[in-house]
Amino acid sequence: MNEIHSYYSPNDLYNKIIEGLNEIGKDLSKVTLDDLQPVDEFHIRGDTATKELIKLSGFTPDMHILDVGCGVGGSTRRLSHEAGCCVTGIDLSDQYIDAAERLTQLLNMEERVKFHAASALELPFEDNSFDGVWSIQMSMNIEDKLSWLKEVYRVLKPGRPAVLYEVCGHKNTPQHFPVPWAQDSSMSFLVPPEAFRNIITSAGFDIDVWNDKTDLAQQAFSHMTEPTGEPNLPELGVHLLVGNDILTKAYNLHRNLDEERVSLIETVAKKPK
Ligand SMILES: C[S@@+](CC[C@H](N)C(=O)[O-])C[C@H]1O[C@@H](n2cnc3c(N)ncnc32)[C@H](O)[C@@H]1O
Repeated sequence: MNEIHSYYSPNDLYNKIIEGLNEIGKDLSKVTLDDLQPVDEFHIRGDTATKELIKLSGFTPDMHILDVGCGVGGSTRRLSHEAGCCVTGIDLSDQYIDAAERLTQLLNMEERVKFHAASALELPFEDNSFDGVWSIQMSMNIEDKLSWLKEVYRVLKPGRPAVLYEVCGHKNTPQHFPVPWAQDSSMSFLVPPEAFRNIITSAGFDIDVWNDKTDLAQQAFSHMTEPTGEPNLPELGVHLLVGNDILTKAYNLHRNLDEERVSLIETVAKKPK
């Protein structure tokens, strides 16, 4: 867990994002969700995927949703903005949570969007306290997926859904490293989709929706070529979150997808009434 925490712990992250915004000439009093998207939605297919998940979730303004492994909170804020609900995000990285809180203030969204530094394996909330949970591409870093899902189950109200959008393993192993979520295999715990499905049901959930999104992920990364020389990185991008070797990581993700070493699953799992 310490290794994973340090992987997601850039220094002075908020100020680096502000610097990036300044460099591209954004007026800080008018920053929008879309302006931050290149850096704050750190998952395959970015805001396009987040919008699909929002539709799929059916979350409504009267609800309070928990985002487990929220990163710097881009999809947390987008969910609140589009569905109108209150959203609480938790993440292992205190640096990400600090940036998440300050970016939320910058967008004047702090009334409905809150954050806490916490582990997905020990959620600091009462039983049956949320109307919905969502978790976006965090479980790759979680070895004990059953404990994570039992925690999600515990904090959900009966009859309510967990929306999960997760990278899984595939037919072939091993994966190529580094990848965006891990420098090497010691930080990455992928299970094939069928095993993931079994863990979800073992935690007590009924599966309502199960969509394999691997082909869309393959398309999204199809342009990646092997990087050479000094990387040409944009002012704002997820390299600010996980380092300047991001192009190598994205290229390896492309190879893993094409060679059927990783897959991408979107699912809605319901806690029975
Ligand atoms: C690939 S990022 C995705 C972040 C965010 N969901 C998004 O889509 O922008 C994975 C995130 O999982 C978090 N994470 C990893 N292990 C965790 C754990 N045990 N508990 C909480 N968060 C964790 C990391 O700190 C990181 O922010």
